Amino acid sequence: MESSGSLGGTGSDGRRTLGRSGIEVSALGFGCWAIGGEWQTPDGQPLGWGKVDDDESVRAVRCALDLGVTFFDTADAYGTGHSERVLARALGKRRADVVVATKWGNVFDEERRLLTGTDDSPAHARRALTASLRRLATDHIDLYQLHISDADPDRAAQLRDACEEFVREGLVRAYAWSTDDPERAAVFAQGPHCAAVQHRLNVLQDAPEMLALCEELGLASINRSPLAMGLLTGKRAPDQSLEAGDIRSRPPAWLPGFGDGGGADPEWLARVDALRSVLTSDRRTLAQGALAWLWARSPHTVPIPGFRSVAQAEENAGALAQGPLTAEQLTEIDGILGR
Ligand SMILES: NC(=O)c1ccc[n+]([C@@H]2O[C@H](COP(=O)([O-])OP(=O)(O)OC[C@H]3O[C@@H](n4cnc5c(N)ncnc54)[C@H](OP(=O)(O)O)[C@@H]3O)[C@@H](O)[C@H]2O)c1
Repeated sequence: MESSGSLGGTGSDGRRTLGRSGIEVSALGFGCWAIGGEWQTPDGQPLGWGKVDDDESVRAVRCALDLGVTFFDTADAYGTGHSERVLARALGKRRADVVVATKWGNVFDEERRLLTGTDDSPAHARRALTASLRRLATDHIDLYQLHISDADPDRAAQLRDACEEFVREGLVRAYAWSTDDPERAAVFAQGPHCAAVQHRLNVLQDAPEMLALCEELGLASINRSPLAMGLLTGKRAPDQSLEAGDIRSRPPAWLPGFGDGGGADPEWLARVDALRSVLTSDRRTLAQGALAWLWARSPHTVPIPGFRSVAQAEENAGALAQGPLTAEQLTEIDGILGR
């Protein structure tokens, strides 16, 4: 594990670079999945995080901007277009001051708020890009990400080439694949304007192979689920139910840590408890400690915690001020988790 000595400036200026693109971002991005509101599959599997208040979402984004956050991650599918629209409304004229990442690859019905499938064709990529530009009220996407995590690598190579074309046309500045598979990430990385991989990383779910790839190829590691979908905030309990529209109330196979109804897995909570004293040292909250672990883990990481309120935005953005954990704290955490 790398030490936290001189990690990309987080703590001194709180900024990192999106891989070899040279695009500078705050070391913390904001993940805009939850603020898309409710959407689902045709058979009723919730895909959002339950009901949201758009005005509160807008206030939370503006609060993040005021606290120095300059990176926002969304997707065309989140709330079947709603997340992109709310983000555009919140940014307004400040769009020019921030780096916006969105994703494509899912097919959805905006009216009925349903996810209906995926499309890995270059023609769909162009259609989706045009639609995202319109919803985001912008003339370019800073980081365009393939949202089909298990797409066929040969088909994805064609999408990578389509992204190079989008870059030539000035519609996209850089691109990435959202995938947990290092071999797939390496396929995209062959394109000169591939800047990053978005993948799951948090103190409970390490990803050493992906981080090694980012190091080797000079990619940013954009960290989804940095708070283990809320488990690393200290507010979830085994007997706590979640509202029916929240994906965690009926967790799909790829979402560990929650039981039926949304109760947190006691084994996961025991690990969070074991880490509490290290993560909350130096007056950090648990969530802030979880973000600080990610910055210490590698100079390439940019966590993108989700949020639904101004209070969460303030707390998460507040982590920037203290920067990464120390190398000693990382070692202590590895010892506690037996890694
Ligand atoms: N395939 C993909 O590309 C993919 C997949 C997943 C996520 N993502 C991206 O990654 C982002 C973040 O990941 P994630 O949504 O999986 O989860 P996460 O960031 O690990 O957890 C976010 C959730 O934790 C809770 N929370 C956040 N800050 C908090 C605070 N300070 N105190 C208490 N609770 C707090 C909120 O949920 P509650 O208030 O409901 O508890 C929030 O929605 C997403 O928004 C999205 O942009 C991408």
